[in-house]
Amino acid sequence: MESVAAGSPSVGASLSSSSSTVLQLLLPMVVLVYVVVQTLVRRRMNTCTAPLPPGPMPWPVVGNLPEMLLSCKPAFRWIHHVMERTGTGIACVKLGGVHVVAITCPNIACEVLKMQDTNFASRPLTFASETFSRGYMATIMSPYGDQWRKMRRVLTSEIVCPSRHKWLHDKRADEANNLTRYVYNLAGAGSGGAVVDVRHVARHYCGNVVRRLVFGTRYFGEPQPDGGPGPLEVQHVDAVFACLGLVYTFCVSDYLPWLLGLDLDGHEKMVREAIEMMTRLPDVLIDERWRQWKSGERQGLEDFLDVLITLEDAEAKPMLTIEEVKALSQDITFAAMDNPSNAVEWALAEMVNSPDMLKKAVEEIDGVVGRDRLVQESDIPRLNYLKACIREAFRLHPVVSFNAPHVALVDATVAGYHIPKGSHVILSRIGLGRNPAVWDDPLRFNPDRHIPADPTTMVDVTLSENDLRIISFSTGRRGCIATSLGTAMTVMLFARLLQGFSWRKPAGMAAVDLSEGRHDIFMAKPLVLHAEPRLPAHLYSATSM
Ligand code: HEM
Repeated sequence: MESVAAGSPSVGASLSSSSSTVLQLLLPMVVLVYVVVQTLVRRRMNTCTAPLPPGPMPWPVVGNLPEMLLSCKPAFRWIHHVMERTGTGIACVKLGGVHVVAITCPNIACEVLKMQDTNFASRPLTFASETFSRGYMATIMSPYGDQWRKMRRVLTSEIVCPSRHKWLHDKRADEANNLTRYVYNLAGAGSGGAVVDVRHVARHYCGNVVRRLVFGTRYFGEPQPDGGPGPLEVQHVDAVFACLGLVYTFCVSDYLPWLLGLDLDGHEKMVREAIEMMTRLPDVLIDERWRQWKSGERQGLEDFLDVLITLEDAEAKPMLTIEEVKALSQDITFAAMDNPSNAVEWALAEMVNSPDMLKKAVEEIDGVVGRDRLVQESDIPRLNYLKACIREAFRLHPVVSFNAPHVALVDATVAGYHIPKGSHVILSRIGLGRNPAVWDDPLRFNPDRHIPADPTTMVDVTLSENDLRIISFSTGRRGCIATSLGTAMTVMLFARLLQGFSWRKPAGMAAVDLSEGRHDIFMAKPLVLHAEPRLPAHLYSATSM
């Protein structure tokens, strides 16, 4: 090469001049491409500098579905298992194309639901939630948007506002009286007591309150002389719990949408059957009430249904369609049933196993209320130990393992991790409530942890929890709207059971079995205890049909 260059100066000169021309042409292009690439890379780096939260490496298309399905664990248990393995308060698994971000650390939970609330204000679109909400017509399951906003406003300003809460006080009080009377009848009406199914009693109390507030009636069918549910009420409450067990439960076609319609796991059929069963009776009632109002046959508001049907907008036009009224009635029904009944069932189970706690709660009621009248909602502010027991049940035995999912509306950064837009963010109710970094001896049921050690600093114990160390009513834009109603229902249910009856293990039972179900976290077996009336007989009879 050297000799050619040395022996052929003209060629060399020509080469060098042509290459300099090429360079002159290429260089700006190279620089331009370099600048563009750098800008793109930097822009991408700016949004994605943060890594995803820790979690297993996903496969293309199916994500981590294969390992989850192969684990043979229910989805919620597998996700908690992954979280334990990662050892962090936030983890990410990919189900199909969806990033599912689970959180067990209260600070990170607050970052999501308090500091970045608007970024995470939506809900996932799933087969069950679409079916149960009549095409996202109501509040709880609807994605963020105008319909959700409209329906949430209707509920907060017209249904669970303080004036309505006061307005319907007597109906709630009547249902508390009916509960006392029904359990009295089940417990042998003063004959020394009998074995009572606490789950049945607690769920039907909630069912009664809901039907009474929404539809103005305890019974869809014939009233029962003992105050208990008839077959139609049993069918209604069973159907509500069937729906609650299906919503936001894992369903493969929610993550691989092209499988929708094949119903490989039978989920779609179960969802359709459960909602048909749940709405059959209420829908007939709503159709009839709608007709009564539209024909002018009915006047005067008596319950939530009347309120919803007669709401008007600024131009005096009906605010809601009949479908919207049905969807909102369903929302209220879904929302009010499971939390109160589950918390009371678990609290009583734990306390029968720890009789000192039971004694302390009963003594509190006797001290505040006495034995010559029944406990009322107005007593709730002074029943702090009782509320601490319910808080403890929410902490240790929440009704579901994860809070309702929140969907990221934008790309976000949480705890230094990248959360892509569309991610499902699920706060673990058991992960938060049983977090050993937050709670001493987390698996021990200990209501005193919610009461200040120094009684002079004692303030009203409440069931809500702003710092998300437990999830009770949650917080933020999608937080529960019905703290007063939820508290009244839960505490009255518990207080009436404790005040009216002495509870103990049935003969031959060494301890109440506190195992959780395999596919959910309800008590594995319904709580069945021996109940004996402890008040003067006349107090058990005050109620209306
Ligand atoms: C003890 C009883 C109750 C508890 C513990 C409870 C708890 C909750 C929780 C944890 C959420 C989800 C919050 C989130 O996504 O971050 C929620 C949402 C909701 N709750 Fe409650 N709830 C109770 C009773 C009720 C009742 C009686 C109603 C009756 C109207 C109600 C209406 C709602 C509604 C409408 C939402 C959805 C809010 C939205 O997505 O915008 N809740 N509740």
